[in-house]
Amino acid sequence: MNEKSESCKKCGENTADPQWKKDFPIEWEGDHYVSRREMVKFLTLGSAILAAANWLVAWIWHRRRDGTFQAQMIGSVADLERNKSILFRYPTEKDPCIAVCTLTGELVAYSQVCTHLSCAVIYKEEELFCPCHNGVFELKAGRPTAGPPTRSLPRIVLEKRGDQLFATGVEVTA
Ligand code: FES
Repeated sequence: MNEKSESCKKCGENTADPQWKKDFPIEWEGDHYVSRREMVKFLTLGSAILAAANWLVAWIWHRRRDGTFQAQMIGSVADLERNKSILFRYPTEKDPCIAVCTLTGELVAYSQVCTHLSCAVIYKEEELFCPCHNGVFELKAGRPTAGPPTRSLPRIVLEKRGDQLFATGVEVTA
């Protein structure tokens, strides 16, 4: 390379690249390309992180489903007359639920959140009814019987302790 041609014409100072740039040249154009190996590394690491996150969510869900919920008193048995319902929140204050005493005296409870678009279901003539799109769930297992919902309502496990009624768990079915 001709260094004389790269010196400043006014002051005569050499404006050529410093020696270190010549010793360690960087191919800037090539530097922007991602090599196949780097891409495979990125995809592998990303997949591993996603798999770990999925496993963690499944583990937490499985633990909760296995009955690690705390029992919570939801009212007295006398509160729940035949053909009536009461509302409560379980397992957290953000989870609205409905307990029903059927015409035959059976006690059942479900999440009050419709499995279609999350409106609140209400008790109506031996069924749980969602007024948003006329969804209907039967009381025995919370299965959808009419309207757009396709998934059952999560069932709340109830337990009588003396004259008090407790929620003790949540069961999710397909
Ligand atoms: S939200 Fe319940 S039927 Fe649509």
